Amino acid sequence: MQNNRSIQIAPSAKIIGHYPIAEFLERKVELVRQGVTVYDFGPGDDPIPLAKVITDALRNGLSDQSAYPLVRGTVELRESISQYLKRRFSVSVEHKEILPVTGSKEGIYHLPSLLIDHTCPRRKVLGPALAYPPYVKGTIAVNAEYVPLQGGPEQEYLIELSEVPASTLNSAALVYLNYPHNPTGAGCSLDYLRRQVEVAHKFGILLVSDECYADIYFGEKPPSVLEVTKDGVLAFHSLSKRSGLTGFRSGFVAGDAQIIDSYARVRNSIGTAPPEPIMLASVAAWNDDAHVQERRELLVPIRTRCLEFFDELGLEYLKTDATFYLWAKAPNGRNGREYADSLREKGIFVSPAEFFGEGSDEWFRVSLVLPVEECEKAFELWRSV
Ligand SMILES: Cc1ncc(COP(=O)(O)O)c(C=O)c1O
Repeated sequence: MQNNRSIQIAPSAKIIGHYPIAEFLERKVELVRQGVTVYDFGPGDDPIPLAKVITDALRNGLSDQSAYPLVRGTVELRESISQYLKRRFSVSVEHKEILPVTGSKEGIYHLPSLLIDHTCPRRKVLGPALAYPPYVKGTIAVNAEYVPLQGGPEQEYLIELSEVPASTLNSAALVYLNYPHNPTGAGCSLDYLRRQVEVAHKFGILLVSDECYADIYFGEKPPSVLEVTKDGVLAFHSLSKRSGLTGFRSGFVAGDAQIIDSYARVRNSIGTAPPEPIMLASVAAWNDDAHVQERRELLVPIRTRCLEFFDELGLEYLKTDATFYLWAKAPNGRNGREYADSLREKGIFVSPAEFFGEGSDEWFRVSLVLPVEECEKAFELWRSV
């Protein structure tokens, strides 16, 4: 059979397919093959074993029957999420205001297709300049324009929508906020969220708050936009960080009932929802707060030790108290990518700012995903870079 060489691939697919983190990690595989010990502070995947209450629920959830999962989720799942939101943020959220997602990445990536097509006058998506990649990639997928909003270390990575020109706000369909912020760990206050909601309401923009790290905190509990309102907003949450269930692909989006209903209808065509046994395990995860507290406690010594090491090296870093990321500045005015490359040659992997977008070029992210003993071995090598 002959290959048809004229099959077209969309240029946007090439941009979407460019994932620098994946390319960087190819070097890791190469180093491991050469027998080099690798210390990977790159991923957002922690090594803490899963809670028994969750794995038991998963095992019990397996049956000898299989059915397509409900796109709107089971009643039990939505109830467990509603109860979680009540316990954690003191908000009342009804079942019709909740939709499960197959990991928040998927839910975020598909969201722009709900709001923007080629006939729409508003074709801009606003979001952080240093961003979780699906905000940008999902925007490109619908041929819309992502407008990166600066908010550098001087502003502690807070974006003020009131400072964005009215012409931009008038042509925006949605805005992403992400606090606690990946990659910097920056947080925000409820007052900050109130101010942003006010601007979003005034300009008719859907405000999407990605609250994936809401339960990974070491100081004050991060707020949710749902504490301000449900009108014209969505909040994304995930079990990947709260419970370490990255491989389960389970999260939810909650907020404006009308938007949730429209999104559920669209998602019937995508056909995506966590499989039923995962929904059952997710019920156990949202219902239980003890394992989340234990996970936070396990992260504390790793975080403390990494910060002590930064102090020893005299590295500048952002003072934050949430997420399992630390955001530090390469020494002596060095470029973050160049510094990360030097570390990589020693087998130490960190993520330079350029993996996440524009600005803050001297900075890099360290994930708190290695046990303290592994960190100590990595620090021995790091001191020589
Ligand atoms: C800011 C942010 N949002 C969402 C996610 C996605 O989480 P999930 O595993 O639920 O897709 C991540 C994962 O790293 C993240 O950093």
